[in-house]
Parts: sequence; C-alpha cells; structure tokens
Amino acid sequence: MSDRHFWNIRAKNYDKLYWTKDAGYIAKIIEAARFGRNDLVLDVGTGTGAMARSIRPHVRHVVGLDFSDSMLQQGRWEGISMVKWDINDILFRNHLFDKIVGRMVFHHILDNLDRAFLRCFDLLKSRGKLIVAEGVPPGEDPEIVDWYTEMFKHKETRRTFTPTSLVRYFAKNGFQDVQTVRYKMRRFNINNWLVNSGLRKTTQTLILNMHRDAPDKVKAAYGMAFENGVCYIDTENLIVVGAKP
Ligand SMILES: C[S@@+](CC[C@H](N)C(=O)[O-])C[C@H]1O[C@@H](n2cnc3c(N)ncnc32)[C@H](O)[C@@H]1O
Repeated sequence: MSDRHFWNIRAKNYDKLYWTKDAGYIAKIIEAARFGRNDLVLDVGTGTGAMARSIRPHVRHVVGLDFSDSMLQQGRWEGISMVKWDINDILFRNHLFDKIVGRMVFHHILDNLDRAFLRCFDLLKSRGKLIVAEGVPPGEDPEIVDWYTEMFKHKETRRTFTPTSLVRYFAKNGFQDVQTVRYKMRRFNINNWLVNSGLRKTTQTLILNMHRDAPDKVKAAYGMAFENGVCYIDTENLIVVGAKP
C-alpha cells in the first residue's frame, strides 16, 4: 500500500482518535518548545492540523505541511498556512523557520530518515529548534520493545523509536543541546484507537487479543486494564528538542 493510500483510508476517522486531542500531551509539547511571540513555525506532517491550531495562539505564524490531500481536507486552517508537500522535497528557502514541530510523523518516514532530519535542519534559522514528539515502548527491556514492534506490525509499516534511537537522529544530523521530556498518556483507549485507524475488523480483533494475551511484563509496564471489554493502557511518549547551532 502506498503511503498516500494509507492516509486516504485513515483520514476520515482521524479526528475521532482520542489521543490526538489529549490536552496534557499538547501542553507538554508547547511547554517544551518554548515558543516566542515572533516565531515562524513549521508543523511538519500536520495531518488535520491539531498541533498547528494549538500552536497558533503562541506565535507569529504557523505553516502546516503534509503530503496527504485526504488528511489536509479533514482539517480546519483558519489563520494557518497549509501546504501540500513532502518534507523530503525542497520547497522553502533555507534558514526560514524559528521552530519546526513534528508530532507522530517521523516513525512513518521509512526510506531515509536522516534526509528528513537534514531538511528540517536546513529550514531552521541558526538557534532554531526542532521539536519531535513520538510514542515509544513503555520500557527499553528487549522483551517489551519486541512485543511493541510485533504489535505495531499488524497495524502499519513503521519504525519503532526508543528514547536512545530517537535522540541519536538529532545528534547525528547536527542538532545540539538535545533535551528530552517524557509524557505518560493515562488510560489510552485501545478500542477507540483500533476502530478509528482504518483497520479491518479481523486486524482490530487480533491486536486487541494481543493486548489481552501480552506477557505480564508488558501488561505491568503499560498499567494495562480491561473494563467492560475496553483495554486501557498508559502510553509512553517522548518529546525531543534539539537546537541548530
Ligand atoms: C499520525 S499523523 C500525525 C498528524 C499530526 N502531526 C498530529 O499530531 O495529529 C502523521 C501525518 O504525517 C504525514 N506524513 C507522513 N510522511 C510525510 C512526509 N514525508 N511529508 C509530509 N507529511 C508526511 C501523514 O500524511 C500524516 O498526516
């Protein structure tokens, strides 16, 4: 399945995903970014613009960029410049943005992640910052990381980031003063996530059952609970901020 076709399927119900509106997660990203009133911000992989709309009141202007027509069409863009483009391709001049934000985007970039990091590096002004927010496994124990990777294989083709691997991309591509902040999203609703992710019913059932049958170590790391057939977990999210020298 091509990347864009994947997003055509997911776009319709994307905004029904509870996690996209989690106020604590958005607030943590905004706090970590330390936006200034005069900042020009690029929200890369903006999707339906959830982050762009939250950033907008804090800065001079936000540009939301995404390569999926379907995702952009589901968004609302009052006061935001929206651009259909692939982050890997050159569009803007270099040294333009004060901050670049990418929430839950980079794990979808499979072919050349260094190139995407370098594009962001080039687009930032000197002392500009890249802010990346990603879900990570709920621990670096190999058994937990392997279970997480296997589980996601049924959902989509993606990267598994760990805090170590994500930070390495920043350092490797020239960013300095790399800081991390963790955010635990409490009671993430797995059923809501599965039903609104464009998956076949059989795949939804398979992934739900994987949670039910997960090793005790995984269940404990997630604080997993089943209530009336709904699976709740506490997800681990990492916000990484790196500065261009
Ligand atoms: C999980 S969604 C996240 C959307 C938004 N950042 C949010 O937090 O709600 C990932 C988005 O990244 C976009 N995307 C993935 N790879 C991209 C690329 N190479 N260039 C531009 N957008 C990309 C997809 O189209 C999708 O809208």
